[in-house]
Amino acid sequence: MNETMTALRERIADNSEATERALQAYGAGADADIQSLLDAEAYSLLGGGKRIRPFLVNAFCEALGGESRASMPFACALEMIHTYSLIHDDLPCMDDDDMRRGKPSNHKAFGYATALLAGDALLTKAFYVAATNPFVAKETCAEAVRMLAVAAGEMGMIGGQIIDLSGEEKTLAFETLLRLHSLKTGALIRCAAKLGCLAAGYGEETAEAKAAERYADRVGLAFQVIDDILDAVSSEEVLGKSVGGDADHHKTTFLTYFDIDGAKTYAENLTKEAIDAISHWEKSDTLDALARYLLERTY
Ligand code: IPE
Ligand code: IPE
Ligand code: MG
Ligand code: MG
Ligand code: MG
Repeated sequence: MNETMTALRERIADNSEATERALQAYGAGADADIQSLLDAEAYSLLGGGKRIRPFLVNAFCEALGGESRASMPFACALEMIHTYSLIHDDLPCMDDDDMRRGKPSNHKAFGYATALLAGDALLTKAFYVAATNPFVAKETCAEAVRMLAVAAGEMGMIGGQIIDLSGEEKTLAFETLLRLHSLKTGALIRCAAKLGCLAAGYGEETAEAKAAERYADRVGLAFQVIDDILDAVSSEEVLGKSVGGDADHHKTTFLTYFDIDGAKTYAENLTKEAIDAISHWEKSDTLDALARYLLERTY
């Protein structure tokens, strides 16, 4: 492993710890009347996950000279939405998966109704956390809430999830598969990059945010291509989540159109495009290394 990758792994580990602490601080504390809900939220949110999206938020903010305390609440909000999406994604009416983040899925541990509500609560709390970020201006909070709503909703992650389900019944055209991946996974990853820029003072229309979005668009697509590969070739022990479900549900994935090597090459080319998008930045090393790290990931 070269030095840049070693340094990146350390930064990812440090950021995961900092994110975990911040997420913990948003916990509601004990409340006997709703304890099962709070336990179910904490079960999925804390102590698991690679925390790639919060890393992106914080890394983009840092690359553009912003303060980490300004980006962390946005990073936490996004991780809450991502975690909610995973809880609902695993439900029997969706992918019906029993393992997530190294332990039984939320509904396996708490039952369907509580899992559904834990997801709802995390989604709602995310907007509260973004709206009340004390380290940026009120208008910046409002803009972050808007970005999160677009990325999480029908023109973002949820739109992708419904196309994903339709791809179980028929083979989707390649263009539709690209749209599916760009929405269900790409939308939150693009949002991560844009939130980091926003926290550093660069709104959506700036050249910096546009370059960041291009980077995240390519990284996000590559991330789901690798996820499709890992679902086919990896194991539950390594990934910490159920595998083989894509084939079992006859889903249209990248492996409908490519063999493993072809899908990997596709992801490699996207990664090159991502790196090119921000190569003119003074501080692009960490994000450059992250794109390569995500391409080579095995879990
Ligand atoms: C899983 O995301 C869902 C996809 C969009 C592929 P991650 O692979 O980032 O899951 P965690 O957060 O590490 O559990
Ligand atoms: C990403 O797709 C799902 C979300 C938007 C939550 P997958 O269904 O492939 O994610 P995994 O493989 O279950 O993590
Ligand atoms: Mg799914
Ligand atoms: Mg799934
Ligand atoms: Mg998958």
